[in-house]
Amino acid sequence: QQENLSFHILHIASFANHSWAHAEGSGWLGELQVHVWDSVTGTIRFLKPWSQVKPEAWLSSSPGPGHDHLRLACHVSGFYPKPVWVMWVMGEQEQKGTQRGDTLPNADGTWYLRATLDVEAGKAAGLACQVKHSSLGGRDIVLYW
Ligand SMILES: *[C@@H]1O[C@H](CO)[C@@H](O)[C@H](O)[C@H]1NC(C)=O
Repeated sequence: QQENLSFHILHIASFANHSWAHAEGSGWLGELQVHVWDSVTGTIRFLKPWSQVKPEAWLSSSPGPGHDHLRLACHVSGFYPKPVWVMWVMGEQEQKGTQRGDTLPNADGTWYLRATLDVEAGKAAGLACQVKHSSLGGRDIVLYW
């Protein structure tokens, strides 16, 4: 999965006269401001604690739908950038019944996603949630039910 991210730097220089100039700058990821440049101190402040953050994942379950069924949920949160791959698997086998929710924003600019799988109670053993994300450098997260 690919997402085209735009990074913009906005630089404003003001020249009041031949001896006085002032400059300010900011960095933007899409519509989100992530950097501010202070020309007086010569420093760049990072406004967000993240630049490439890894997801955390955890599992939960709820009864149903229907008799003797379980809905397994794999929650993945706190990742950036937005593209992520989440799938319920049994060994190498991707479970086609995996339902992906929408990728939702966390308050701090990172993302959250939930993937659910409905199974018969008693058939959940061996299932695992697998997460691929650019921040993981190929080391997928695998959580066994
Ligand atoms: C240049 O502009 C600055 C900022 O407006 C002002 O404080 C300063 O007096 C000006 N200098 C001259 C020589 O006009």
